[in-house]
Amino acid sequence: MSIEPSPLPYDRSALEPHLSADTVEAHHGRQQALIEQVNAAVAGTELAELPLQEIVRRAQGALFNHASQAWNDAFYWEGLRPSAGGGGGEPEGRLAEAINRTFGDFARFKAQFAGVAERLFGSGWLWLLQRGDGALAVAATANAASPLTGEDTPLLACCLWEHAYYLDYRHARGKYLEAFWNIVDWRAVDARMK
Ligand SMILES: [Fe+2]
Repeated sequence: MSIEPSPLPYDRSALEPHLSADTVEAHHGRQQALIEQVNAAVAGTELAELPLQEIVRRAQGALFNHASQAWNDAFYWEGLRPSAGGGGGEPEGRLAEAINRTFGDFARFKAQFAGVAERLFGSGWLWLLQRGDGALAVAATANAASPLTGEDTPLLACCLWEHAYYLDYRHARGKYLEAFWNIVDWRAVDARMK
């Protein structure tokens, strides 16, 4: 058994104008290449039968780097939805209540998300996480690191590698983050809550 490629949940141009088809295609192609590298590395080893998230939890070195990036990016894609198909807007229900309880309100949550992104030097991901006690938190992981190796439940990911935004926004990572809010699938985020 090998890890199956993970198809995009929407057409490559569906996130425009917030993310161009070129960006989505290149980013997704990179993710699929990572999966091929994972499959080549685990073939014939005790990890060969494991799902991707288990490989992330057990691997080290280059295999961890490839597996974790592939999983993080799949989680990123699955948390997005085209604006025309219901992406963006604001969270509702229990998710909105949890965000208000933790951050004060939705605007302050977004400001904290942007602040943590600004403080991340280099590449990584930005996360909305749910702690074991149910509270929410914003955190960044550097390079290939993933919350999968910790105790928190990831709810939303934003890839902050240059490959996620450079074609569209050059060095303006803040503009990419502003556009990101127009394509978040809040129902998918809600469904990940415990
Ligand atoms: Fe990425």
